[in-house]
Amino acid sequence: MSVDAEFVPVCALGELADLSARSVIVDGAPVCLVRVSDEVFAVDDICSHAEVALSDGLVDADATISCSLHGSKFDLRTGEPDEPPAWEPVATFQTRITDNAGVPTVEVSRQPHQENA
Ligand code: FES
Repeated sequence: MSVDAEFVPVCALGELADLSARSVIVDGAPVCLVRVSDEVFAVDDICSHAEVALSDGLVDADATISCSLHGSKFDLRTGEPDEPPAWEPVATFQTRITDNAGVPTVEVSRQPHQENA
């Protein structure tokens, strides 16, 4: 597997069930990894409202995740919440699927997207 300093392999794609979320560590920070059909999203795994793991929330097929504590729903593409009490976005990260010795593997960018970093 080639090494790319910009992306970190985090898990096999097969470990991530459809409409599920899990927490992974990227450079020491928790990232919420979410699979929606054939797409994999990655956002900061700390809600922007309080210190709660977004990966404990409910994933919806419209590519959103609802915070388990107060229910703000975050758009996984933009990181924006749809309603209070959270009003600040969470950082989003690029993802990609690579072939790791025949195993489709999810990789996450080390840096968040610029617009919501
Ligand atoms: S802790 Fe997430 S909405 Fe309050």
